[in-house]
Amino acid sequence: MRVSVIGCGYLGAVHAAVLAELGHEVVGLDVRAEAVAVLASGHAPFYEAGLAELLARGTASGALRFTTEPADVAGARAHFLCVGTPQSADSGRADLSAVEGALTALLPHLGPDDLVVGKSTVPVGTATSVLGRLRASGSTARLAWNPEFLREGHAVHDTLRPDRLVYGVEAGPGATADVDRLDEVYAAMLRDGVPRVVTDFPTAELAKVAANAFLATKISFANAMAEVCEAVGGDAVALAATMAHDPRIGGDYLGVGLGFGGGCLPKDIRAFAARAEQLGAGRAVAFLHEVDEINRRCRDRAVEMVRAMAGGLRGSRVAVLGAAFKPESDDVRSSPALDLAVRLAEEGAEVVVTDPQALPLAQLAAPGLRYAVDVVEAATAADVLVLATEWQEYRSLDPLAIAEVVRRRGVVDTRNVWDLEAWRRAGFAAAALGRSSALPPGLGAAEPDHGSRADGVAPSR
Ligand code: UGA
Repeated sequence: MRVSVIGCGYLGAVHAAVLAELGHEVVGLDVRAEAVAVLASGHAPFYEAGLAELLARGTASGALRFTTEPADVAGARAHFLCVGTPQSADSGRADLSAVEGALTALLPHLGPDDLVVGKSTVPVGTATSVLGRLRASGSTARLAWNPEFLREGHAVHDTLRPDRLVYGVEAGPGATADVDRLDEVYAAMLRDGVPRVVTDFPTAELAKVAANAFLATKISFANAMAEVCEAVGGDAVALAATMAHDPRIGGDYLGVGLGFGGGCLPKDIRAFAARAEQLGAGRAVAFLHEVDEINRRCRDRAVEMVRAMAGGLRGSRVAVLGAAFKPESDDVRSSPALDLAVRLAEEGAEVVVTDPQALPLAQLAAPGLRYAVDVVEAATAADVLVLATEWQEYRSLDPLAIAEVVRRRGVVDTRNVWDLEAWRRAGFAAAALGRSSALPPGLGAAEPDHGSRADGVAPSR
């Protein structure tokens, strides 16, 4: 089928490349000429495993084109809206200006029987407004809402093999044809048995924000338990493992540590809470404010743990391993790792950050920090090493090799992936978030910092 994809960021570029791979004729439209030029040359403008191969194949075969010219989408039978919906600058609400802009670009080129398909994460009620705009313009094109559940770092896999397909469709006689058209787009996945839920607009919109809110809540629950463990001398990682044995709970998204970041979960829970308040249902999701607060406190607790380990931040040299919001991504939006690095630097530490993929974007987002090309350079003469993003190459670091280059031997694992005993055997003081029972003595302070806390996260003796 001939389709268009409007907005070619993390979501749209992957969606376009996967649809071309599935045999569709795809044109991707974006206002960013630079990104379009990179995509059109068959390359990915950001790091995402497997994407470059798909883009190269699609553009070489001619199945996949990219353009900045809205008229080029004319003739497509389905137009996927994949633009970003970031947090507004002045509130928790979603900024829908890119959705508005995409519609403005699309409307003059829509055919009477085209299907517009919303994929962006939007506040519930947006689809109804989009439909209103379509009708007000005189268009007879149809609308469906088809949220996307891909994770960055696994985007190609998640798009090719989604857990579920959700279609929100307009009620009435045209609904069957809309479903049929989406089924034609996703025929390969449906043949593989991917479950499909057909529903109304609000439920489809909520399907996405409810899932992200649940995931964020699960992570914050694990991190709330970590706070309790730090207060009583328990081990939150072992606690999460006990919970994971219960199939009703499951182990995913119970990872104790620095909390969630990225372009989705943080802004989505805020937008959800703001939208629910507008709808008079604010109480129903008031707990999301606490989910956000617990998540923020992960970063506070990490700062205090590094401070305690260093024996004071001012003048201490801290190597932060990781800048991306999670491994296998170069995205630093709301990155807990980069935020932690900035906070440590603000509190007087000499911070050096490294990351296998995210350095260019990190340097743009936090130009005041020092950056190193690899762990050895970052760790050289460091007092404390902080694991902030659990890239595989950091998980498998050899403590003995690192011991050779550091100034003092201290590590803080904010992602709970290191074997602390292995670090201790190499002579390091080692600590991890949520595991105060395992906290060793710190490195010993020169002078205590202003604002230093002697609470549950301070290393015990
Ligand atoms: C998230 C959802 O998982 C996707 O289903 C959704 O489609 C996407 O948002 C979106 O709205 O577009 P993503 O932001 O790519 O995907 O990343 P996740 O893998 O969900 O991780 C989010 C954050 O949670 C990361 O900072 C990660 O380090 C953190 N996390 C994850 C934890 O702190 N603990 C865990 O146990 C799991």
